[in-house]
Amino acid sequence: MGLTITALADTHACTLGATVSGVKLGALNPADWRAIEQAFHEHALLVFPAQHLDDQQQLAFAQRFGEVEVLVEGKTTIAISNRGEQGQALREDSVFMQLLRGNEGWHTDSSYMPLAAKASVLSARVVPSAGGETEWADMRAAYEALDVDMRARLERLSAFHSLFYSQSRIGAVAKVGDYYGFNAGEAPRRALVKIHPETGRRALFIGRHACNIPGMDAAESEALLDGLMDFACRAPRIYRHHWQAGDIVVWDNRCLLHRARPYDYREPRVMMHTRIRGNPDTESALA
Ligand code: OGA
Ligand code: MN
Repeated sequence: MGLTITALADTHACTLGATVSGVKLGALNPADWRAIEQAFHEHALLVFPAQHLDDQQQLAFAQRFGEVEVLVEGKTTIAISNRGEQGQALREDSVFMQLLRGNEGWHTDSSYMPLAAKASVLSARVVPSAGGETEWADMRAAYEALDVDMRARLERLSAFHSLFYSQSRIGAVAKVGDYYGFNAGEAPRRALVKIHPETGRRALFIGRHACNIPGMDAAESEALLDGLMDFACRAPRIYRHHWQAGDIVVWDNRCLLHRARPYDYREPRVMMHTRIRGNPDTESALA
């Protein structure tokens, strides 16, 4: 059977995502790629079960969406894992494990960087026996579910996006230099309502890194942002993926939030992540 795209709206009653089957991502023909790209714009999250791509194939797939980000030490595909390269358990107080714990809060990738991400590709290599799912929340549907007065209010607002802010809120202690490519005091400012550069659809642009809305004091800003996140990240706007090793997904960071679900860190979890850069015209910080 050929390429089949099934909206998660039909199978899981949620507003985002689709499952794509009947295709080998390592050997895509041009027509299949066009269908995948179109589905990506429509559904914002695509799940490809049982692909078993190696790092090179994952990178090649990610590069179809655009230029990839260098994430750490010249690497474009990195392990999101509680185990080191020799399979050793990482210390829970290490900076990396604190970042993994941070991933358990709703966020969008690289929003605290000068250029926010377009998309991310994530695949499962080793999955724990329980927990460790990933969830995505649809910020297009969240925006559309707000009442008109709130929409009009948010249209005029922006927030800073800071990894130091989000990590300090989970009790992680960091020094300047701990977080690759990011310096305290240089947090980018981004509009709370993002117009999707490809579809024109509006979405809430929030997440755990968002803070300090100009024109509000810190408490008022935090209360508004926490309230929006609480409202936005609810059914039917959520999809939770139960991973099988070999699954790969791609999502649109411009209109979704995502988070990892907790699991027992005594068990290994190995995910491979590749991130696609935003467009400087549309994912740069506000002046
Ligand atoms: C990521 C991320 C969540 C997870 O890869 O950017 O947030 O479930 N991952 O590992
Ligand atoms: Mn992430």
